[in-house]
Amino acid sequence: MSIQNIRKEVMKTLEKNIDSFVDKFLVPIEKIWQPTDFLPNSQSDNFIEEIKEIQEISKELDDDFWVSLVGDTITEEALPTYESWLLDLDGVTQQPDNGWAKWVRAWTAEENRHGDVLNKYLYLSGRVNMREVEITTQHLISDGFDIGTSTDPYKNFVYTSFQELATYISHINVAKIAKKQGHKALAKMSRIIAGDEMRHHLAYTEFVKEIFKIDPSEMMLAFQHMMKHKIVMPAMHLRESYGEKGSLFDQFSTSAQRAGVYTGFDYVDILRKLNAAWEIDKITDLTAEAEKARDFLMKLPDRMARITERIVIPDTKYNFKWMIPV
Ligand SMILES: [Fe+2]
Ligand SMILES: [Fe+2]
Repeated sequence: MSIQNIRKEVMKTLEKNIDSFVDKFLVPIEKIWQPTDFLPNSQSDNFIEEIKEIQEISKELDDDFWVSLVGDTITEEALPTYESWLLDLDGVTQQPDNGWAKWVRAWTAEENRHGDVLNKYLYLSGRVNMREVEITTQHLISDGFDIGTSTDPYKNFVYTSFQELATYISHINVAKIAKKQGHKALAKMSRIIAGDEMRHHLAYTEFVKEIFKIDPSEMMLAFQHMMKHKIVMPAMHLRESYGEKGSLFDQFSTSAQRAGVYTGFDYVDILRKLNAAWEIDKITDLTAEAEKARDFLMKLPDRMARITERIVIPDTKYNFKWMIPV
């Protein structure tokens, strides 16, 4: 059997548990929070006062913080890219009897609330040029992405395990900074978004864990492949109006590092957490090649930590079109 067909078989085996995955890792729609729960109530007499208060305190947070939040929001808003990518994986089809499609749709439906609430908050803050933010979002969706996984579910689930944790970290750091500055509403919404990301992270790590039980060597090689090529960010093609594809990503990343929202150390930390979650050191029945991959993966976090320590974050200021000067 070809590697691709084995993967399809493994996906079929996992698919039998889709309902329990959905029950365990996702929240019923009527019970989960909605964006409106965290935004000023437009039907209340205090609506305008609440917006004024948000606009006042929004002036106190610096540009690096807002740029990070805008980039995170746009990343969430490019959800059509991620849904269509996941629906194209080996073993996933949009046919009604395909359990994986059910997972992907339910996951997408949860994720959709993230960009929704953040976008509305940014709009109310008065701190950013929303039209430019919208142009970047439209570009990002139009540009699509290539995360180097092809249609391989093993590689993809490594990617999503990683990314869900990366977004958890970003949102939780935004929550901490916002709280410190007295931004209660923003802190609350970021914390609750982070909670969703953590559940999603646990789901995707569980899928990988299950694959490790059935096809350990191939799973190990897929993990190694993803880490050797480094995990690219979903917003890799970020650009602003009239900009070249991808030209804005490094500037955004620099701001996020300076703000302390997402840094190179977070990347290393995620690697360690994935190794631990999948108990990479304890997996048995590996081929010689997969044993080598395991060695590589075990040593990688320390190696990357040493490289990260040497990286100097530039303190040059870039004038983002997204930002309105205070
Ligand atoms: Fe999200
Ligand atoms: Fe997510």
